[in-house]
Amino acid sequence: MTRRIDLLAADAVAEGEMQMVWVDGGASPVLVVRSGGVLHALQGTCSHEYFELDRGFLTRGTLTCPLHLSRFDLGDGTALDPPADLPLAVYPVVEEGGRVLIEVPDGPLAVNED
Ligand code: FES
Repeated sequence: MTRRIDLLAADAVAEGEMQMVWVDGGASPVLVVRSGGVLHALQGTCSHEYFELDRGFLTRGTLTCPLHLSRFDLGDGTALDPPADLPLAVYPVVEEGGRVLIEVPDGPLAVNED
């Protein structure tokens, strides 16, 4: 079974920007990014150490964690540089009625962390 989580209004994230949304009663951060006209939703903390990625920066389809400068592919979450070696979890995005939702398996949100 899957569940849908309503994150925010689609127009709340402009091109080249990102917004952190805390879901599941504030337990889980999800980072919503609009890049190249595409909306992405990824785990909100780095897979290397706990660091909130809305303080990172976006460059050509990647997100850089400012703590140790690992870059992650926005499309599939792949860690492109050390020290991070695990990908960021990515969540399927659905845009509906002007809202951004993710569709994920029931249960806790998947998060990759060392
Ligand atoms: S905490 Fe993100 S690269 Fe180390």
